[in-house]
Amino acid sequence: MSANRGQFGSKFGFIMAAAGSAVGLGNIWRFPYVVGQNGGGAFVFVYIVCVVLIGLPLIYNEVALGRMTARNTVGAFKSTGANKFWIYTGAVLALCVSFFVLSYYGVIAGWTIGYIISEFTDFISNFETFRSSPGYVIPFFAVFMLASVAIVLGGISGGIEKASKILMPVLFVLLFAVMFRSLTLDGAMEGVKYYLTPDFTKINGRVILSALGQAFFSLSVGWGILITYGSYLPKDQNIVSSGAWIGVMDTAVAFFSGLMIFPAVFAFGKNPSEGTALVFNVLPEIFNSLPAGGQIVGASFFLLLCVAALTSSISMIEVPGSYLIDEKKWNRKKASWVVGILAFLVGIPSALSGGSSEFFTSMSLNLFGETKTGFLDIMDALFGGLFIVIVALMTCLYTGWVINIKTVSNEIEQGSLFFSRPLVAGITPAQIWIFFIRFVCPLVIGLVLLSTVGII
Ligand code: PHE
Repeated sequence: MSANRGQFGSKFGFIMAAAGSAVGLGNIWRFPYVVGQNGGGAFVFVYIVCVVLIGLPLIYNEVALGRMTARNTVGAFKSTGANKFWIYTGAVLALCVSFFVLSYYGVIAGWTIGYIISEFTDFISNFETFRSSPGYVIPFFAVFMLASVAIVLGGISGGIEKASKILMPVLFVLLFAVMFRSLTLDGAMEGVKYYLTPDFTKINGRVILSALGQAFFSLSVGWGILITYGSYLPKDQNIVSSGAWIGVMDTAVAFFSGLMIFPAVFAFGKNPSEGTALVFNVLPEIFNSLPAGGQIVGASFFLLLCVAALTSSISMIEVPGSYLIDEKKWNRKKASWVVGILAFLVGIPSALSGGSSEFFTSMSLNLFGETKTGFLDIMDALFGGLFIVIVALMTCLYTGWVINIKTVSNEIEQGSLFFSRPLVAGITPAQIWIFFIRFVCPLVIGLVLLSTVGII
């Protein structure tokens, strides 16, 4: 193991950093709009089932694989004897996912910076106009990427851990404040009903795939991030409870974001299924409706959204970054700068795809019968949707069937002794977990993938 790797200083720090990675635009921006596009309550129900049955076992799997090998994503596969096929489909693809998502994630995070400033200067009159002004969008994107690189440069316990420990709790407080306002608006109950009453007839293959994809996006499963963070986790730490905390916090933030957005959507007569612009159109209205202090609340909220994005983007830099540090022997500084600058350059077409460039705005891709228009949306569908699900499937097939899964479950047991003690009828949590990794997770993910591709 190279000496310059670093470690998390405490359990709280690890949970905050991992939850900081998990909680991001995925929860506050992506979750509400995907709920809106998939019919409300029914989607929320399927989503929670996906998190518990598929997401959680995969969190344990990735964290344990990382800690067991103490390596970056590619290193974790290599050092357990993976051949080229598994290295490419499980690890290299994960690096690509992190890198390419980072490239457009930074663009969206840049919008939040614009909205922070606009609370005081009102320079954004509407979302569409703002989004199509390269003079705003690109500099904000650049500022965001610079901030991310700066934090990663600080290293594991000094940079990533310290930032997350402070920023995450602040985020919770603000989220609750805005949710409270939204719930007390006139007509809020309609939105609560839409959000919380599942209409089971709305569940179909697409809804399940969206829920699964959203769960992996949000939990940071299938990106190599949990392998990477797991590799910085000391052996005496409890993977089972830390993982459960990450899952609970991430799901709570997504859930409360919905409870913040939908009452307002209905109170202001907006369309819940309008897509990516949803949050950016609805939130400013909530802030304007405040009797006093709307600007302060609004600016703090967009600041929070930006911060949530920041604790996620730093982990996306860390995945390819740690690969370059471990495998290519680069130093942290060089690796972080190179990843950050390249992601910025690759992200420019996404930044221009909101109307500035006709070419990038109108390009379209037909992905299994669904047409995605605009460079950013295409990247999100490919890297933020399809490829994450493939990486998650490959990682779980790899630990379940290619290497000895016992070694992974022994790793989980270290620091969480009850994992191998009988629970009921002589069955241990370890056995249940192994059953999920070998059978339930790959079968469900595989079937959902096959049905999206149109094979079944
Ligand atoms: N989970 C983050 C979100 O919800 C995205 C992310 C995934 C960040 C993987 C880092 C690594 O926004």
